[in-house]
Amino acid sequence: MRFIALLALLISTTLFATDDDNSFITKYEYGAMLYKNPRGIGCNKCHGNGKKEIILAKYRNKKGALKYIKVPPIAKVSFEDFKAKLKSDKTESLVMPTYFLTDDELDSLYFYIQKLK
Ligand code: HEC
Repeated sequence: MRFIALLALLISTTLFATDDDNSFITKYEYGAMLYKNPRGIGCNKCHGNGKKEIILAKYRNKKGALKYIKVPPIAKVSFEDFKAKLKSDKTESLVMPTYFLTDDELDSLYFYIQKLK
């Protein structure tokens, strides 16, 4: 019985504690997890390490001119702009998917992106 109580305690602290120092998973680890698997296609798939512009695709338009689909660097975006972007809906972007992340998740994700190498 005591064992089950201990197990329940362990599980609940792992699931619900992410911010304080003695939690099992740090903010950095949580952010890393979200960056690669944010309930949808991973940010890393398009943004890489977030430091430089990436060309996702090249195509020619009807007039034969070369066009690029570019992914901007995200490591230097302010937290306000970051949040605004991640909370905006599909109509604003043709390429980047819409995510439904909580403020806590965005906080950890941003924290992690600042530390990407
Ligand atoms: C399918 C590719 C793709 C994925 C996956 C993706 N993005 Fe993007 N992202 C883009 C493109 C393209 C743009 C620029 C054009 C636009 O806004 O759609 C962009 C723009 C941004 C911007 C705005 C940058 C600026 O200069 O204002 C931020 C911040 C951002 N992405 C963060 C993320 C995060 C965090 C994730 C994961 C949760 C993510 N993106 C996943 C393609 C992607």
